[in-house]
Amino acid sequence: MGRHVGAPQLAAMLGTLRTDRPGYLELADAVRQLIDDGRLGDGVRLPAERELAAAMGVSRTMVTAAYRELRAGRYITSRRGAGSFTSLAGRRQPAARGLWSAGHAEVIDLACAALPAPPELLEAVRVAGTDLALYTRHSGYLPLGLPVLRERIAEKYTARGVATMPEQIIVTAGSLHSLHLVLKLLAGPGEKVLVESPTYPNALALLDQAGARLVTCGLGPAGWDGAQFLDMLAQAQPRLAYLIPDFHNPTGHVMPAQLREQLVAVSRATHTDLVVDETLVDLHLDGGPVPPPFASFDRNGRVLSIGSMSKAFWGGLRVGWIRTSAQVVQQLAAVAVDLGVSCSILDQLIAARLLESAATVVANRRAELAAQRDALVAALHEHLPEWRFRIPSGGISVWAELDAPVSSHLVKACEEVGVRLAGGPRFGAAGTLERFLRLPFTRPAPELEEAVRRIAAARAHLDARSRPYLTEPAVLA
Ligand SMILES: Cc1ncc(COP(=O)(O)O)c(C=O)c1O
Repeated sequence: MGRHVGAPQLAAMLGTLRTDRPGYLELADAVRQLIDDGRLGDGVRLPAERELAAAMGVSRTMVTAAYRELRAGRYITSRRGAGSFTSLAGRRQPAARGLWSAGHAEVIDLACAALPAPPELLEAVRVAGTDLALYTRHSGYLPLGLPVLRERIAEKYTARGVATMPEQIIVTAGSLHSLHLVLKLLAGPGEKVLVESPTYPNALALLDQAGARLVTCGLGPAGWDGAQFLDMLAQAQPRLAYLIPDFHNPTGHVMPAQLREQLVAVSRATHTDLVVDETLVDLHLDGGPVPPPFASFDRNGRVLSIGSMSKAFWGGLRVGWIRTSAQVVQQLAAVAVDLGVSCSILDQLIAARLLESAATVVANRRAELAAQRDALVAALHEHLPEWRFRIPSGGISVWAELDAPVSSHLVKACEEVGVRLAGGPRFGAAGTLERFLRLPFTRPAPELEEAVRRIAAARAHLDARSRPYLTEPAVLA
């Protein structure tokens, strides 16, 4: 069965149309925006004209004219007897490829959303150097990871309410490595993988390289539309779903507990494995309870949780992990051996030592990020008051909705004034999200304030030079 969106659901997503232009143009624009914003994925069948007209309380003629507009703009294609389908054909492929470049000194780098190392790192390195003596008589090949680190990581899950044995953990060289192993084991080329839109760009690039067929499901201003996600999962029956439920990168949203539970239940029926990226889970900035982990609802071994030292500790360590059943851990280790990539013993020893001071390190991270977030938010309110955003309760970035679909253009202009950014299209599957920009708050407050001043000047300059707004996303090389 193809994927479709029901008339009441689409009507709800469209909301109230503006009335200052002919209705059919407003309707066509609103549908176009849902496609541009990645909230309606590629190849989704729209409701029949009559059904949408009834659900919206408008005339069928208006819907017919709107669909005609959308067809003319190649936003939908219609086939007699089959219906009308959203289309991203002819747009560029995912822009998210490769690593963010490190940049040079005077550039304010807001493309890379990561903190510098915590001060505790150097002491952990010193002690780990001594620990290493215990392992030098061993070959040093440990495809499952260092036992002491697996224990520490298992304890972390148990403390979060999911009883976990060290046998259920494999240590990897970071979250992306974890995703790579999972894809190799579970999803061959051409298999469907459900992803959020927007989502983490390097995961998109990896899925693209793995030949996955992406099915996207959009996040709206309030986060996941639960009914739409459950529907999409049931309709598409993907092999995997890659989800970022905790302080989602880039939007900062947190998935409610109920939807976690429902997704786990539906995944059982659709035979979908849920790859849950918890890289940002420790970074809640405003206190308060965090929903239970996905794994706590899993009775059928459908959840693979991916974690990392990168955000709460340091990306330079390259230490991550996967929590799943002991049996799947063994299979993943076999894949890791085949690929020949793993995390070094010394890095794992450092990680194990750092985890001993996790309470202090993470508390300091949260305080640092909260202060930087507040400085960024204040600067945005002052210099770019027309941009809209939700203040995230955690994570590393603000996801700003711009005043026009100029993200790629603005990113280019900002390069010229020494601010490196990742524009909205980086986070989408196929040339979408031009109205959005991710602004990480991982740099010190004065840098963030200076960056926002420069971005605001670049934005004003775009208008002054009266460059045309993009009707199609620019190619990012
Ligand atoms: C959701 C998410 N997953 C994974 C990563 C990268 O993690 P790692 O450095 O462990 O590969 C990031 C980094 O920003 C992220 O935001």
